[in-house]
Amino acid sequence: MSVIIQGGTVVTAHRSYRADVLCNGGKIVAIGESLEVPKGADIVDAGGQYVVPGGIDPHTHMQLPFMGTVASEDFYSGTAAGLAGGTTMIIDFVIPNPQQNILEAYKQWREWAEKSVADYSFHVAITWWDDSVASDMEKLVREHGVNSFKHFMAYKGAIMADDEILVNSFTKAIELGAIVTCHAENGELVFRLQKKIFEQGITGPEGHPLSRPPEVEGEAANRAIRIAEVLGVPIYLVHNSCKQSLEAITRARNEGQRVYGEVLAGHLLIDDSVYRNKDFEVAAAHVMSPPFRAKEHQEALWRGLQSGNLQTTATDHCCFCADQKAAGADDFRMIPNGTAGIENRLETIWHHGVSTGRLTMNEFVAVTSTNTAQIFNIYPRKGSISIGADADIVVWDPEAHKTISAKTHMQNIDYNIFEGMTVKGCASHTISQGNIVWANGELNVVRGAGNYVNRPPFANYYDAIKKRTEQSAPVAVNR
Ligand code: URP
Ligand code: ZN
Ligand code: ZN
Repeated sequence: MSVIIQGGTVVTAHRSYRADVLCNGGKIVAIGESLEVPKGADIVDAGGQYVVPGGIDPHTHMQLPFMGTVASEDFYSGTAAGLAGGTTMIIDFVIPNPQQNILEAYKQWREWAEKSVADYSFHVAITWWDDSVASDMEKLVREHGVNSFKHFMAYKGAIMADDEILVNSFTKAIELGAIVTCHAENGELVFRLQKKIFEQGITGPEGHPLSRPPEVEGEAANRAIRIAEVLGVPIYLVHNSCKQSLEAITRARNEGQRVYGEVLAGHLLIDDSVYRNKDFEVAAAHVMSPPFRAKEHQEALWRGLQSGNLQTTATDHCCFCADQKAAGADDFRMIPNGTAGIENRLETIWHHGVSTGRLTMNEFVAVTSTNTAQIFNIYPRKGSISIGADADIVVWDPEAHKTISAKTHMQNIDYNIFEGMTVKGCASHTISQGNIVWANGELNVVRGAGNYVNRPPFANYYDAIKKRTEQSAPVAVNR
């Protein structure tokens, strides 16, 4: 079955132009003015609208077992909510328990993800270390299409990676042609500060940001970047929330290091006053790590996107409902960390980014889709409108209005951190694998239709790094 998108303006990361787009067999097969309509094709009228590559969310946690509970959004409902907001692919995380075989964990996550309605891929977290982890990393890269490994520098006593794990894993990653990613917060400091603040009698959600100040993030960001620099591995820092980590990234990039930074829609738009809300449910609904920050950090993060020092936007979609958040009613340390947003990323970033003049439309496409595809080596199959690319496309109506609310959203969570925000500019149609799956407020998805996306290693580039390192190897003084 063919789908033709007629009369729109194609907007890519690089240019904007008038063209029709024809999809067949899940791929884009023709782009041009006044294309002939194949017999029986579905026609999408994109007049007055933009035709953009489907959003890629590089940071989600569907049905994650975490902090004694399981995230309420599963791969079916979560990818469906993504499609409703114009996100056609996610990169989720396999997070093995310490000592759990990482290949087994990967297989478990693959099984959970079979119900996805949109395409997906996985970063794999390294939460412990021995020789078997090293050889399983190799299998994941060579046989299972994984090219990125994640390290949680926080969550002491659970999944935290200390410096020894970071060094071992980063060393293996460079050998395999994989990129490393980090959640940068100094877990030891967080642990100490949590204890201190709790003992001072601050037991509510307002204790959460106090125990995770920006300096704690900046320290870990800088440490991860410097370790990566010494070992020569490219590094991607997830959910940068503050000036301190942005400064670490900017400094390293200015020095020529290959460092990438992600920012969440939530961190761009929400400030830390939410934790002082008198209603526990509201304050707890915002508990995530790193926390929402004082307003001054938000403008800095927008500038990070504008300058290109931050390249991607994500959501860290990790849903916990009020009954789950209640586990921390007497102790903020027990509130499951996580917030939602996959359905609202594109529209909030368009509204507050493009409509305010902070981002051009082309930059919007870059930071919501193309840059992620390039950094994680799936471009131009994903993140582009080009012949031969996957037909993952969004028709974007710049005039459509909507007020975001948990009462009307598709996400499987009882709270929306953007509650009451009116946005102008929304996905009128989403095309996933060449099928119209979202049209004018209606979802039409098929359970299990999502495909796993293999991400090949960065072989050539890494070979060159290795050669350069060998050439500049230090030489012992001959005495
Ligand atoms: O609070 C968060 N972000 N929860 C999900 C796990 C993580 O740290 O990304
Ligand atoms: Zn994290
Ligand atoms: Zn996360």
